[in-house]
Amino acid sequence: LAKIEINMSEIPEGKSVIFKWRGKPLFIRHRTSDEIEKERAVPLETLRDPQTDEQRTQDPKWLVIIGVCTHLGCVPLANSGDFGGYYCPCHGSHYDASGRIRKGPAPLNLEVPPYSFNDNLLIVG
Ligand code: FES
Repeated sequence: LAKIEINMSEIPEGKSVIFKWRGKPLFIRHRTSDEIEKERAVPLETLRDPQTDEQRTQDPKWLVIIGVCTHLGCVPLANSGDFGGYYCPCHGSHYDASGRIRKGPAPLNLEVPPYSFNDNLLIVG
């Protein structure tokens, strides 16, 4: 299927869930206000692949990313690592709660797929 529809009302705040989209893991995270505040405060110049949190989210409460490490393609673990986001156990890449690379060998942030919102539905694809 080219598109996937996800009912956001089933994902409570603070929770990360994984779906499958186009054969890849799709990570959806319902972020807390603490997480949003923290990610929005990160100075751009400290980032390897500089992107603001605003550039990576349409609604700050929802992080929508492809769960494929940009190093060699392993699937990172949610709610892990030194930056409160994702950790790739293959070679130790740490991503923050905006999916941005912060430490380890991965060169780029986790990819944000095309998506839109329609009431309670998140439509990816
Ligand atoms: Fe993720 Fe190497 S594949 S750190």
